[in-house]
Amino acid sequence: MTSIRGAITVEANTSEAILDASKELLCEIIAANGSKNGLRLDQIIDITFSATKDLDAVYPAAAARAMGITEAGLFCVQEMDVSNSLPKCIRIMAHVDIPEKKQSDMVHIYLRGADVLRPDLAKKKLAVAIDGPSGAGKSTIAKEVSAAAGIIYIDTGAMYRAVALHNIIAGTDIKDKEAVEKSLNHISIDIQHDDKKKQRLILNNSDVTEDLRTQKVAEGSSIVASYPAVRQKLVTLQQDLAKKYSVVMDGRDIGTVVLPHAQVKIYLDASLKERVHRRIHELELKGEPAEYDSVLQAIESRDERDMNRTHSPLLRAKDAHYIHSDGMTINEIANEILKEIQKI
Ligand code: DC
Repeated sequence: MTSIRGAITVEANTSEAILDASKELLCEIIAANGSKNGLRLDQIIDITFSATKDLDAVYPAAAARAMGITEAGLFCVQEMDVSNSLPKCIRIMAHVDIPEKKQSDMVHIYLRGADVLRPDLAKKKLAVAIDGPSGAGKSTIAKEVSAAAGIIYIDTGAMYRAVALHNIIAGTDIKDKEAVEKSLNHISIDIQHDDKKKQRLILNNSDVTEDLRTQKVAEGSSIVASYPAVRQKLVTLQQDLAKKYSVVMDGRDIGTVVLPHAQVKIYLDASLKERVHRRIHELELKGEPAEYDSVLQAIESRDERDMNRTHSPLLRAKDAHYIHSDGMTINEIANEILKEIQKI
């Protein structure tokens, strides 16, 4: 006996939507498993369905009965209400008897927004691109979304910061484009994740994650990010990561250049005033003194460079979902993005 897993998200808590989605999921599981013509219904021993708390209009198992699955044991349960979990979702576990197949031959099916639940099993990697200006809250939100969606978060700004840090330590003038571009031959960047899923940036075999968040490095990163050779190296690295893993990636050019085919693109914006306040709050939490005018000036000059450079400036992709986050809580923004993921 082997088991097959699957999940699908449902548009609405109506009998019709729940039955349609359950049927779609069962059909895909049947078609993808078994022999050439798919699974025979008499090979199904039992199916357990679970539904999130927001789905109670009908038992999903009714779809199996309607499809003629009459012999198998069917059972439905309601799931626990885990905060930030994928809403309106039906999960399935089916036990089947296919003597010629092993457990590792089973094809598990995750459809619509549910592919975020098991990106390792999903056929196509999921890419969520979040772009926006400095201080719009991208990294905070991207971390929330990646945790809720169960996929990894890639902070691309940290890579530009690492190039700046390397040059600052080496005493190179950051404004010397040729010197910075030459330094790329001596820079290796690797992204790792610790056991709390936090990104660690490894620069030439050293973990420099904690050294990237200074004002000097921020300023330098915005300058080196305008150099084409720097962008070329880092964009390739980012694209390679998105080929290997399902990702939430944030930056300035993710939806436009790095992952133009991302299934979900978000442009996260906030007013200059709000961004300055958030940055001051962030600095104060770290015990660093923050003066309104100097923070304002630093953000304005980064905006100016990031938005007006020749190569891959910060742009809102045509197909990006726009969120103006002034007055919104972290949860509200994350939920809006999770809803976009659910629509895929
Ligand atoms: O998001 P951040 O503040 O850590 O980014 C640091 C700098 O790197 C920012 O000023 C712009 C640049 N950057 C970029 O040009 N493209 C990206 N994908 C990410 C960051």
